[in-house]
Amino acid sequence: MDLQAQLEELKTKTQNQLKAIKADNANELQELRVKVLGKKGSLTELLKGLKDLSQELRPLVGKQVNEVRDVLTQAFEEQAQLLEAAQIQARLESETLDVTLPGRQIKLGNRHILSQISEEIEDIFLGMGFQIVDGFEVEQDYYNFERMNLPKDHPARDMQDTFYISEDILLRTHTSPVQARTLDKHDFSKGPLKMISPGRVFRRDTDDATHSHQFHQIEGLVVGQNISMGDLKGTLEMISKKMFGEDRSIRLRPSYFPFTEPSVEVDVSCFKCGGKGCNVCKKTGWIEILGAGMVHPSVLEMSGVDSEQYSGFAFGLGQERIAMLRYGINDIRGFYLGDSRFIEQFK
Ligand code: PHE
Repeated sequence: MDLQAQLEELKTKTQNQLKAIKADNANELQELRVKVLGKKGSLTELLKGLKDLSQELRPLVGKQVNEVRDVLTQAFEEQAQLLEAAQIQARLESETLDVTLPGRQIKLGNRHILSQISEEIEDIFLGMGFQIVDGFEVEQDYYNFERMNLPKDHPARDMQDTFYISEDILLRTHTSPVQARTLDKHDFSKGPLKMISPGRVFRRDTDDATHSHQFHQIEGLVVGQNISMGDLKGTLEMISKKMFGEDRSIRLRPSYFPFTEPSVEVDVSCFKCGGKGCNVCKKTGWIEILGAGMVHPSVLEMSGVDSEQYSGFAFGLGQERIAMLRYGINDIRGFYLGDSRFIEQFK
């Protein structure tokens, strides 16, 4: 058979094979394409015969080769489209849509319990005209300690060892430095300063069920004229009732903080047993919830506030502690692991 006839035969044969391919065997089309039009395919094979042809015949047959390639390329294209359409049609016919099936639910997350506690307390204080202030987690030694009346070498620094970025820059050990930063800026001609500042704090602590190298506090500060210990007690009593129930009472025990004088430890009557003594309050009827006191005159003076004219109170409350007491959580690490089984319990 001469080359021209062979080309003609390849064309017809391939066209027929193409038409025979069924939609559910679509990969056969690709195989056939390689076999006929591929680099080592039949058409390339026939091309090799061109060199044996006469001068006159060669351009003619060359042209024919090109024509066959074009025709087949297009035939493959068309058949591929036909097969695809057939596949879609088949799926449309076989798949049914049951519109009465329940929809896919989008799972809603929830706020972390610490954020919830913080927001709850913020709301209470906003209602009393307090401002909410943000502080820095990376803080200067100067604000974290010196301005809180803890000069270098003060023994009380021992209890608050922390992570140092440099000699003067550290991860804050409490939210109290926000007191100094806010006092510095406050314009007392416009009225008293009333603020709270929630945030993360850090200490050099071994992590166990009740200790963590990071935890959260809420700082409170009120400074103005004629602010007394009675204001401190009233404010804390009110917040305790809001958080632990209207029947709660509080008691103040003497304590020590370098930045308050006098300093107190505040206990709330046990919300579980009402004061009779149980496992939550360790049989004492009282639960310690925060540290507080009257702002030390030196803290005021370092901010340029006249301690003869102004006085104030401050308190610092641990958010984890509130949550653990309220919900009977006995391992502090649960707050930070991000385990949804823990987080989802507090919706
Ligand atoms: N900053 C203290 C602490 O972290 C708590 C505190 C704040 C005490 C304000 C008194 C007044 O232990």
